[in-house]
Amino acid sequence: MARLQVLLMALFISAIALDQSIVNAQFSESMYFTPGANSQCAIVGNGDDLHLVLDNTAGSRAQSKKAFLFGSIEMLIKLVPGNSAGTVTAYYVSSSGSNHDEIDYEFLGNVSGQPYIIHTNIFTQGNGSKEQQFYPWFDPTADFHNYTIHWNPTEVVWYVDSIPIRVFRNYENEGIAYPSKQGMNVYSSLWNADNWATRGGLEKINWTCSPFTARFSKFRPRACEWNGPISISQCASETNPANWWTSPIYKQLGYAKSGQLQWVQDNYMIYNYCTDYKRFNGQMAPECSKPQF
Ligand SMILES: *[C@@H]1O[C@H](CO)[C@@H](O)[C@H](O)[C@H]1NC(C)=O
Ligand SMILES: *[C@@H]1O[C@H](CO)[C@@H](O)[C@H](O)[C@H]1NC(C)=O
Ligand SMILES: *[C@@H]1O[C@H](CO)[C@@H](O)[C@H](O)[C@H]1NC(C)=O
Ligand SMILES: *[C@@H]1O[C@H](CO)[C@@H](O)[C@H](O)[C@H]1NC(C)=O
Repeated sequence: MARLQVLLMALFISAIALDQSIVNAQFSESMYFTPGANSQCAIVGNGDDLHLVLDNTAGSRAQSKKAFLFGSIEMLIKLVPGNSAGTVTAYYVSSSGSNHDEIDYEFLGNVSGQPYIIHTNIFTQGNGSKEQQFYPWFDPTADFHNYTIHWNPTEVVWYVDSIPIRVFRNYENEGIAYPSKQGMNVYSSLWNADNWATRGGLEKINWTCSPFTARFSKFRPRACEWNGPISISQCASETNPANWWTSPIYKQLGYAKSGQLQWVQDNYMIYNYCTDYKRFNGQMAPECSKPQF
């Protein structure tokens, strides 16, 4: 009996130790609300769950204290349920200042029963207009799903539940800008975008349904911390074993992952800037004529 107690005590102590080792990733330690955020926003549970709220007084945004260059930024997200038309939940990384880099996930709400749109975009040196959109193959409001932004010196990959949905490859040596020189903070937000989001702005927010709440959980930046320009070479170094994102397997999607990406693009992609000839008057972005992944 005494031995069992000792064993239980040891387990209890190691559980505490384990808990402390991940404390840095918790919202309460790693993120803060942007001033003006809706007062109903909250960090709940043991600090690992974040609720962002939108009502007719304010939307909300939280941002990471640290910035990163290369690695994976993982987040579990459960989107606004029911009639979410006109709302946009976003999850993105972005540097600040002019010529900024940014990698985006935006989730465009819809009226009850109609599909959300998973909207992705990337800004390089201040240039955006590289949208791809998808319908989810699941109900993103019923459960938490894992949305991961991965970027390394050779490619950016957007993952949903470990399935790659989009790749943006580094063609810097061919003069195409790539997000490789600026640290990016992580942001989560929920706001009113009913002038464009749902059916192109036709569906307005129904405030009777507010407050709207998007739930975020288990924020994990497994990424290189940005400490200023010295990080440009340090975070890209292939000789530092801590830089797992530079290992050869992350240079390009393997056969199985490429197949998954093709499946998503064939069945769930609803918009691709590379095929919107009308919008760009036939002057397509240079990366559109290169191998995609
Ligand atoms: C941004 O895009 C425009 C139009 O494609 C291009 O002319 C310009 O050079 C780009 N700027 C950078 C910094 O890549
Ligand atoms: C989320 O997906 C990433 C990328 O596939 C994976 O590395 C990570 O383990 C996943 N996280 C969770 C909590 O499932
Ligand atoms: C909302 O539902 C309509 C009708 O099914 C669909 O056309 C649209 O793509 C959906 N999503 C958004 C964000 O508008
Ligand atoms: C807004 O939602 C309420 C409650 O569901 C509903 O009764 C009302 O008809 C909706 N308004 C519009 C304009 O759809």
